[in-house]
Amino acid sequence: MLSTEIRRRYLDFFAKRGHAILPSAPLVPENDPTVLFTTAGMHPLVPYLLGEPHPAGKRLANTQKCVRTQDIEEVGDNRHDTFFEMLGNWSLGDYFKKETISWSWQFLTDPQEGLGLDPNRLYVTVFAGDADAPCDDESITFWKERFASVGITAELDTPLSQGGRIFTMAKDSNWWGPAGQTGPCGPDTEMFYDTGTGQLALPNGMPDFDSGRLLEIWNDVFMQYRKDEFGRFTPLSQQNVDTGMGLERVCLVMQNVPTIFETDLFAPITQAVSAAVPETARTDQAAMRVIADHLRSSVMLIGDGVRPSNKDRGYVLRRLLRRAILHSQMENSDWLSAVVGAVLGIYREPYPELAGKREEIIQVITDESQKFQRTLAQGKREIAKLSRITGQDAFNLYQSYGFPWELTKEYAQSRGITLDEGEFEKEFERHKNLSRTASAGQFASGLADHSEMTVRYHTATHLLHQALREFLGQGVEQRGSNITPERLRFDFSYPEKLTVEQIKAVEDRVNEQIAAGLAVRSEHMAPEAAKAAGAIGLFGHKYGDTVSVYSIGDYSKEICTGPHVKNTSELGIFSITKEEAVSSGVRRIKAVLN
Ligand code: SER
Repeated sequence: MLSTEIRRRYLDFFAKRGHAILPSAPLVPENDPTVLFTTAGMHPLVPYLLGEPHPAGKRLANTQKCVRTQDIEEVGDNRHDTFFEMLGNWSLGDYFKKETISWSWQFLTDPQEGLGLDPNRLYVTVFAGDADAPCDDESITFWKERFASVGITAELDTPLSQGGRIFTMAKDSNWWGPAGQTGPCGPDTEMFYDTGTGQLALPNGMPDFDSGRLLEIWNDVFMQYRKDEFGRFTPLSQQNVDTGMGLERVCLVMQNVPTIFETDLFAPITQAVSAAVPETARTDQAAMRVIADHLRSSVMLIGDGVRPSNKDRGYVLRRLLRRAILHSQMENSDWLSAVVGAVLGIYREPYPELAGKREEIIQVITDESQKFQRTLAQGKREIAKLSRITGQDAFNLYQSYGFPWELTKEYAQSRGITLDEGEFEKEFERHKNLSRTASAGQFASGLADHSEMTVRYHTATHLLHQALREFLGQGVEQRGSNITPERLRFDFSYPEKLTVEQIKAVEDRVNEQIAAGLAVRSEHMAPEAAKAAGAIGLFGHKYGDTVSVYSIGDYSKEICTGPHVKNTSELGIFSITKEEAVSSGVRRIKAVLN
């Protein structure tokens, strides 16, 4: 079953059940400057999930174009891509778990109206419950009924050999949302298809969800909570449903191919690429995947108005195009128009907004390619001059010429240039963490909001506080803290102006803790216990019976209500921008993260 047929069946199925079919929202979110790209079908629907009435009604469905680039470096293996389509259906305070599960089941298994998958190859997970929300017993009951309807006794949390079909999972896997730091979210139930290749069960008999054999194809989210700025979950005024099915994965299953790159959503693109590139690129599977994926994403982004540039969306597009071109090993740009044609051949029909844009897209890609070919030639000349490549050189090549790290490494090896491996890896990891950070908000999930930046500043404030105590002594005490999405401001007790050396030492120390990728943990305890454990706090202040204590690795421990980042590697580069007096005996530091 080809992708066109799958899309059609999906939309027909839900239209028949009272759903209004919405067009895909653009990849560039319309009313949300804080976000780079649309990353899920629910993303444009957030206001309606929170209760605003949707003009098309309470039952909606569509196929949504999505771009997620947090894993851009992973593209090349069998499953990562940067552009994908999500088939989704929504209930805005209308139907809930029973109908959702029964329709998911029907669409997956019914050969007439749906996909006709063998129910024996289906497994599901449900939310196990925790302090924020109970175990999703209703979903368990509804799934049992569905399996029973075809004579399968679906056991709960039981080894596969004894009939295990339904498995409870914690929040880190079976809870979806909010898209940003706050917003609608809830427990989800995920459907897995047994592809038949790879390991099915773990040694304990339970399913192995990581081996790749069990492929998650659909996710039904029961959005009935709102997460607030304090990390609390409160019930929403309406119970919503948000489902998302990855079209590429469904195609893989329906076309019985081992990877998404062999589905009809990729094959014509790969063919166009392989007709153009030299043999050394053609036989490099990872390179072929990178080229096909990145050019596909680029065409879709340009179609929605993005242009290559050095910042934000334009930077992501530039990076996608440059990586594709590098891996192609092509020194001209003529071949690109055939690839654009192949991409448009696949997407022109489902996404009519692409109509009439062929020439424009080719022009944008060709211009960028020509620009890059010139830089690349220069970069290659630079590498050729080096007899040894240090981590810093590799970083410069990356920054100035857009040479990916792996390419610098291969290039060095193939030309017998020594590469300082240890230093290189260290610099590479550092860079990866930083770019993850730079993007933790926008670039990564594409879903930062201002409060995410604020959370980072909050964690940075703890590091700063500790570093000040380390270099200036334990007399340093917090006198005030003010955080905006742009900077942190921290007031503390200290009698004199800090020297340039002291500022530098504090800054360096904070950056060391960031580079070390320290985990941030929180625990609840009595204030006395916190004090005994050495936590920084205002002990003159009256605390409740229990306080939460946040530890950053072994470096800092402080009483605080949070929230904080999970790991200091999310912070970016810390710089002190100002040090001044506020009043006698109180200094003020302003600092930024980049
Ligand atoms: N929002 C959920 C997801 O992205 C379901 O659509 O998986």
